[in-house]
Amino acid sequence: MKRKPFIAGNWKLNNTIAEAEELIQGLLPRVGAVEDVDVVVAPSFLSLSAVVDSARGSAVQVYAQNMHEKDSGAFTGEVSAPQLVDIDVQGVILGHSERRQYFGETDRALQLKVPRALEAGLIPILCVGETEEEREQGDTERRLRHQVQEGLEKVPVSELHRVVVAYEPVWAIGTGLAATTEQAQETCGFVRALVQGFDKEAGNAVRVLYGGSLKPDNAAELLSQPDIDGALVGGASLDAESFGAIVKAAQ
Ligand code: G3H
Repeated sequence: MKRKPFIAGNWKLNNTIAEAEELIQGLLPRVGAVEDVDVVVAPSFLSLSAVVDSARGSAVQVYAQNMHEKDSGAFTGEVSAPQLVDIDVQGVILGHSERRQYFGETDRALQLKVPRALEAGLIPILCVGETEEEREQGDTERRLRHQVQEGLEKVPVSELHRVVVAYEPVWAIGTGLAATTEQAQETCGFVRALVQGFDKEAGNAVRVLYGGSLKPDNAAELLSQPDIDGALVGGASLDAESFGAIVKAAQ
């Protein structure tokens, strides 16, 4: 099945509002008119509105890096799906390993967040991935199975195809040590098979991304693999030229 490539830049905890505006202004001439790839940037909450306004009318979509599963209430410091929709955000990264590792994000919370994002009209990017220790102990598949099954369990089958799943081996994030092409393809294929376990057609339609030290020089090879439909890019997304080159590699 032909799936539209999907390249997302996760800006993490970087950039003031002025710097975020400068980055999106640098990106627009490079990727603002790209139609054959879904191009996404995910700035920090404070820069979201400014980046949404700058990207309006272009092909660049703006996502958040997290959201709470509840729409409102006594949840200090949180942001909800309706609040993101209110400022024209189009999707949200959920379950990034940094959220799991440093902020106690659980598979249980993700089980609620993923369907809530979809209901609100947001595209969720569900992040999954094993640690170095889990890979060394041969625990990768068990870990991924748990993360994918919990994360998608409450998504109606009719909505599953809208979810994007990002496979990010934790040991490859920000280390400069990307997974080998074979490792990335094999594991993204395994992730797709897990989604096919819910529904064959949805599994064929779901975009599976690779993330972890993906750069312009290794992008083309990783993105040429049959089960890798795109990338979730961290460090290299903070430079307009590098991110533009990665989008080009996906075309
Ligand atoms: O969300 C992006 C990933 O954590 C990858 O980050 O490209 O800096 O390794 P990286």
